[in-house]
Amino acid sequence: MPSHVHEVSRIYNIACIPGDGIGVDITNAAIQVLNKLSSTLKTFEFDFKTYDWSSKAYLERGWYMPPDGLAQLKTHDAIYFGAVGWPAVPDHISLWSLILPIRKALNQYVNVRPTRILQGTKSPLEGCQVGDLDWVIVRENSEGEYSGQGGTSHEGFENAVATEVAVFTQVGIERIMRFAFETARARPRRKLTLVTKSNAQRHGMVLWDKVFYEVAKEYEDVETDKMLVDAMTVRMVLHPKSLDTIVATNLHADILSDLAAALSGSIGIAPSSNLDPTRKFPSMFEPIHGSAPDIAGKGIANPVGAFWSAAEMVRWLGQEKGADVLMRAVENVTARGFKTRDLGGERNTKEVTDSVCEEIEKLV
Ligand code: NAI
Ligand code: MG
Repeated sequence: MPSHVHEVSRIYNIACIPGDGIGVDITNAAIQVLNKLSSTLKTFEFDFKTYDWSSKAYLERGWYMPPDGLAQLKTHDAIYFGAVGWPAVPDHISLWSLILPIRKALNQYVNVRPTRILQGTKSPLEGCQVGDLDWVIVRENSEGEYSGQGGTSHEGFENAVATEVAVFTQVGIERIMRFAFETARARPRRKLTLVTKSNAQRHGMVLWDKVFYEVAKEYEDVETDKMLVDAMTVRMVLHPKSLDTIVATNLHADILSDLAAALSGSIGIAPSSNLDPTRKFPSMFEPIHGSAPDIAGKGIANPVGAFWSAAEMVRWLGQEKGADVLMRAVENVTARGFKTRDLGGERNTKEVTDSVCEEIEKLV
């Protein structure tokens, strides 16, 4: 290609679902930095389509997603999600009306949750510095304790019975293990820790252990170890440096990743990627925090988890450089002490967002 001919800019169609509470603030912030990133780099563009699927809308019209909602999402290259949940709607209704159906219908069987201490931020763990806590939690995202199996009978009577069935399949375990081993292999330490509870849960968790060691034979260059989930919480707090990549079930990893976020400074910084590794369907990117009703509407939510999630989306779309620039910009801003209150700073959402945008311009 002659040098004067510009490479044709790739346009990515992104479905945005801001949802509830601070989900709206941080999604707007993420769109602002993504637009800044594309207008600065000029090698790709975003076409955002925003869907007003939220608890507020549900209270007004009785539904979260229209009947063809999932089909609409499938036409996009990726999905950016804020948060769902609001006090006026029971949480199991909001979760099972929006985010869980999307993860399941779009085959997003992997949830990747990286955590580390960003420059200029502090872990609540004494003596734990930047670099001392750098983990990737690989969460099984389609089955286990959140499989949706179970039911309630005799509701309202004394003999009411409710079951919540944890479902673990060989296929489901094997595919998450392969993804976790690949993730561990791609990181410098090549270290993978399996988390289960196979002493007390003697069926599903024992199958997890078994499949883990079978798959491990294909990854002899990856160092492995195994923890029970309760002991894992202790190790995360007392020996954070001893961990690198972690694989766990839907429920266990959900809990451990909130702990991981808190240990690295705040739940407000942690990202997540809901991936369909087959790439048949769009993947979905969202910070791990919820709608935070206690700070909603105040303009003080930390947008860093939203930016990091956006960077993961950009990386998944194949734009490595864009993802690196965005993360560099975020970390340059935190390094200068430009932080929201949850990180001990004094800035609001808008101030942090604007500085990340300025930083992107400086970096390119
Ligand atoms: P939460 O993550 O919304 O809030 C927990 C605490 O962390 C609150 O004190 C909040 O102010 C703070 N926090 C969270 N994100 C923050 C940010 N970006 N900046 C500064 N502080 C932040 O969890 P909670 O309170 O358990 O749930 C609230 C609602 O969100 C519920 O309806 C719940 O079901 C829903 N939820 C939704 C999720 C999702 O959409 N993926 C995930 C977790 C909860
Ligand atoms: Mg959670």
